[in-house]
Amino acid sequence: MDRKQDDISPEDAARALNWLAEMGADEIILDAPVNRFAAPKASPPDPPLAAPATIAAAPPMAPVANAPAAAQCQSLGEIEAALDRFDACPLKKTATRLCFADGNPAARVMLVGEAPGRDEDIQGKPFVGRSGQLLDRMLAAIGLSRQAADRESAVFITNTIFWRPPGNRTPTEAETQMCLPFLLRAIELQKPDFIVCLGATPAHRLTGRNDGILKLRGKWVTANVSGRNIPLLPTLHPAYLLRQPAQKRLAWRDLLSLREMLDAH
Ligand code: URA
Repeated sequence: MDRKQDDISPEDAARALNWLAEMGADEIILDAPVNRFAAPKASPPDPPLAAPATIAAAPPMAPVANAPAAAQCQSLGEIEAALDRFDACPLKKTATRLCFADGNPAARVMLVGEAPGRDEDIQGKPFVGRSGQLLDRMLAAIGLSRQAADRESAVFITNTIFWRPPGNRTPTEAETQMCLPFLLRAIELQKPDFIVCLGATPAHRLTGRNDGILKLRGKWVTANVSGRNIPLLPTLHPAYLLRQPAQKRLAWRDLLSLREMLDAH
């Protein structure tokens, strides 16, 4: 079949469709055709922040393999030591060092990112590179800091994966499953009042949902970790915000929602 020069190939079409699905698009057609040549209308103002956003129940965490080593840990320090001894995760062989957590263990808020990048791999602390610097500025805007000594303004930061995947590739399902018992034990021991998931990977892990992050973000759900219900807010990853600065307005709404929750509870 002849294809016009500007026709899209089936491979590119599939890639574009995947990308849209990842971004949260879940409808293929609208009720009425869209005239893409018409002058764009002024965009409506942002709706006011929903009073403490919807909290819907997420399924309880499924029991996970490799749990015994994590279950034995009685403190966050013991988790770090156990991870240091834990040789089953292949990422450990390619990473420079373990990157477990940073911030104040007494904090009301736990932030969970995806996986260490290059700077984190070198320093052994989560979110110390460019996205970490943006994260620190975002937190400061709502009065939170990883350095704060008081639990009200402090945060505790960790990741879904504790070793850098080579070349920053997306962690595999097996790698994530191996690290999950340690993340869940960290949540049990740190006992946060609120969890904020930075990006899709932690949001999927901790909510059991697989929607795109643009669909999940901004909606509070309840994570059930070992019988304890914890309000959890998925939001956009700072690395994504560095690539798509226009989306910072969405992240800002999520931060305000977190601030409201902290003030209200
Ligand atoms: N991105 C993450 O998800 N975690 C880090 O620690 C650094 C960058």
